[in-house]
Amino acid sequence: MADWSTIEALPQERLEALFAADPARLKRLTLDVAGIHFDWAKTHLTPEMIAAFEQLAKESDLAGKREAMFSGAHVNVTEDRPVEHTAERGEGNPDSVARAGAYHARMRALIDAIEAEAFGPVNHILHVGIGGSALGPHLLVDALGRDFDRYDVAIVSNVDGMALDDVFERFDPATTLLVVASKTFTTTETMMNAESVIAWMEGAGVEDPYGRVVAVTAAPDKAIEWGVDETRVVPFGEGVGGRYSLWSSIGFPAAIKLGWDQFEELLEGAAEMDRHFRLSALHENAPALGAFADLYYTQVRHAETRAPFAYDERLRLLPSYLQQLEMESNGKGVTIDGKPVGRPTAPITWGGVGTDAQHAVFQLLHQGTHLVPVEFLAVIEAGDTLPEDHHKNLLLNAFAQGAALMKGRANPDDPARAYPGDRPSSTLLLDRLDARTLGALIAFYEHRVFVNGVLLGINSFDQFGVELGKEMAKAAAKGGGDFDPSTDDLIKRAFGGDDD
Ligand code: F6P
Repeated sequence: MADWSTIEALPQERLEALFAADPARLKRLTLDVAGIHFDWAKTHLTPEMIAAFEQLAKESDLAGKREAMFSGAHVNVTEDRPVEHTAERGEGNPDSVARAGAYHARMRALIDAIEAEAFGPVNHILHVGIGGSALGPHLLVDALGRDFDRYDVAIVSNVDGMALDDVFERFDPATTLLVVASKTFTTTETMMNAESVIAWMEGAGVEDPYGRVVAVTAAPDKAIEWGVDETRVVPFGEGVGGRYSLWSSIGFPAAIKLGWDQFEELLEGAAEMDRHFRLSALHENAPALGAFADLYYTQVRHAETRAPFAYDERLRLLPSYLQQLEMESNGKGVTIDGKPVGRPTAPITWGGVGTDAQHAVFQLLHQGTHLVPVEFLAVIEAGDTLPEDHHKNLLLNAFAQGAALMKGRANPDDPARAYPGDRPSSTLLLDRLDARTLGALIAFYEHRVFVNGVLLGINSFDQFGVELGKEMAKAAAKGGGDFDPSTDDLIKRAFGGDDD
């Protein structure tokens, strides 16, 4: 493991002092990549700190591990798998790229067939999936779909029947296409929801409900066994992790809603970020700089959370997408060799939408006792049709909040009205929100997670932490499970049973 003491020993100046001491600070700490302006000038990163992180990255063999990931080596060691999401956008191991291309061609042909009404008229797309099989496609459809009025798309993840009830009220079963999205095709919530959609179609007299199902999965045999015709199963590779899978056939609802050209733009934007990440020196590498800031705050300043705020309604689902990406990837307690990490790993990702969040949670950010690195996301080109003062006001709010967090305001006479300042934020300013830029943005976050994982010495690509709870819920559903008195009591209260 690399030695962190050099970074810990660096002087900790206030942000305003850092600006005053270095007229080139803004230039050094901003980058423009793939239509996104990255500004880390209001973080405590300094050239010395970046150099120390570069050294740490060298000691952690970041460059070697990055190449290993792109080349298709089994870097997901605990599951003995390659990590192949970059191949989905054409970057990486040639065999994986060719296979991903073939699956994409299959998805495209299926979309063409659906558009040509080969399976009857389709007005509604009902995508059921959960976690990575829902959050990514949902983000894409919500962020980009409003410009495309064909197909009404609903993404349902929760096993709470109210989620499906809402959709059943709005959708016509006769013109609904069911997309069952599950890497494993065994996830309880998804399979239960899929069965209920079939029952809803049957109940409405749809003649061949299974004939109106598309399965997107890394387990095609299971989908066929469940009843989906092989021609409507679009596979993706085992090496594509669930939370990294929106580029694969899991992105089906986005590809059909936005159209194939847009889906390709998304992939190309991500590929541009892949090339930037793979080929740029670390001090001018956006995912690396993002990770260095994350690591500085978690490891040296002991920040326990980080908070992205989207100053754009179209990106309102980004914080929840990032929660899975970051927390499921790097919320680990052991190193890649199975030893205790011995230091904090992923911070808790939370966040929200600006300007709403300003009137709800920003109090704590400005005056609370927690240090929370904030990330502002904004888009220069407006998405709305209202007079331009709306968008101007939105952007100025984002910028002013960052300035206020940094500057603070002393008030010796009235401590309740004093602002300590020196609170860090970064800003990601997109030229416009289109498929290409969104692809680059998401790929940026993926690689930033990877750099964090490598420097912490952990495997970002497994997720065993979710298994125990799933197992126990399954046991309880079968009437079994070795539970504690509190849990037994809750089960009894909800479903009845013996008093003793
Ligand atoms: O429970 C966590 C998880 O395994 C995620 O990693 C994954 O994205 C989600 O469940 C859904 O899994 P699947 O795509 O196999 O249904």
